[in-house]
Amino acid sequence: MSQKGYVIVTGASRGIGAATVLQMAKEGFDVVGTYIHEGSEGKIQKVMEQARAYGVTAEYCRCDTSKYEDCAKLFAFAEEKLGRNLAAMIANAGIAGAAFFNEEPRESYENMIQTNLLGPMGVAQDIADCISYLVNSNYVTGQTISPNGGIYA
Ligand SMILES: NC(=O)c1ccc[n+]([C@@H]2O[C@H](COP(=O)([O-])OP(=O)(O)OC[C@H]3O[C@@H](n4cnc5c(N)ncnc54)[C@H](OP(=O)(O)O)[C@@H]3O)[C@@H](O)[C@H]2O)c1
Repeated sequence: MSQKGYVIVTGASRGIGAATVLQMAKEGFDVVGTYIHEGSEGKIQKVMEQARAYGVTAEYCRCDTSKYEDCAKLFAFAEEKLGRNLAAMIANAGIAGAAFFNEEPRESYENMIQTNLLGPMGVAQDIADCISYLVNSNYVTGQTISPNGGIYA
């Protein structure tokens, strides 16, 4: 196990999360990554293989960060694999709207609020007693209007 501890990155199967995992591994941190869709397991496996090439421990599990009980399972998994030397939690998992604002179903609104807002708040609470850094992702569209992005911004 790395003396530096480990970093949890949610939404690590692709995009910014996958790139973050690889950068953290390059810096010498062990990593735990998550994905949500069954079809993404092959992708996260490859990301973790690439991370291990930096000589660190890299684990992954499936976790829906919009569900508090899944987040609790994620930390139980991470603790079992890597202990409590959690250096940082990177709450990256998120979804964007894909419809025009007034065409997006109300259930999508709820899912987005749960995933992008309440999910990161929930994971933060769960790890408050052993965390050094918590990083939430943000985006400039939060300060602008993007009609095709549903309620994302
Ligand atoms: N791309 C941009 O321009 C941009 C800019 C600034 C900020 N952001 C924000 O940065 C974050 C990552 O962006 P991205 O473009 O890299 O996203 P992406 O390519 O769409 O990847 C999203 C990741 O989150 C996972 N995910 C989605 N819903 C989840 C849930 N409920 N629980 C757990 N994992 C979940 C996905 O897993 P699966 O593979 O299993 O679906 C995937 O690993 C998002 O929060 C996004 O809003 C994006």
